[in-house]
Amino acid sequence: MNLTLKIWRQENPSAKGGIKTYQVDDVDEDMSFLEMLDSLNEQLNTAGEEPVAFDHDCREGICGSCSLMINGQAHGPEVTTTCQLHMRSFSDGDTITIEPWRSDAFPVIKDLVTDRSAFDRIIQAGGYISANTGSAPEANSVPAPRDKATRAFNVATCIGCGACVAACPNGSASLFMGAKITHLGELPQGQPERDSRVVSMVAQHDHEGFGGCTNIGECTAACPKEIPLDVISQLNKDLRTAIKHGY
Ligand code: SF4
Ligand code: FES
Repeated sequence: MNLTLKIWRQENPSAKGGIKTYQVDDVDEDMSFLEMLDSLNEQLNTAGEEPVAFDHDCREGICGSCSLMINGQAHGPEVTTTCQLHMRSFSDGDTITIEPWRSDAFPVIKDLVTDRSAFDRIIQAGGYISANTGSAPEANSVPAPRDKATRAFNVATCIGCGACVAACPNGSASLFMGAKITHLGELPQGQPERDSRVVSMVAQHDHEGFGGCTNIGECTAACPKEIPLDVISQLNKDLRTAIKHGY
């Protein structure tokens, strides 16, 4: 495939960015999207030009760092992470627009790399437990109802990629927060901080500049781990309960 790439280039956080156009030829349909960008960067290096900065780590759909808007969609046209997206999803002659995540709470560091440390601060505010669970066999000896354990496990698959924020017209991180609150709130070990957790995480979320949820649902459609929208209902329910308890 021969492709035209329109890529957001921005020298540093305060520089004015803009779209630049590149041509990449002989792209194999079995290449991952990031391998296609690697090949563009080899081309730029050979030409003595600055390669495009983009974030990645595991390239296995686990770490959540490969955050790109591709043709206006978070992680591109498939329900997966950018690193697990393959070039067979595109056609010869396509023009692909590649931008960083769109959110004031995720400022651009350089080119396609954004600062997602706001998520870390939300987790630091309350996304943990104080129960000493010991080693794995001891943790497994705490009985948990099967349906709750399964739901906790399913929502614990959130990798903190931020696609939900990038896709949301309000720039809300409610799906991410709801996944963490549901994961911990379903399990016995998560009960001691259940009230304080939701209050602290929501306060940090708002302080970081994320918007509120208005039930649009773009977040769940863009989520590579298919976190369901009802975790936001759980988040709101836990928040109402905490307020009733005087938090
Ligand atoms: S909820 Fe989904 S889209 Fe949002 S951070 Fe978690 S894995 Fe990414
Ligand atoms: S590079 Fe880790 S999820 Fe994509």
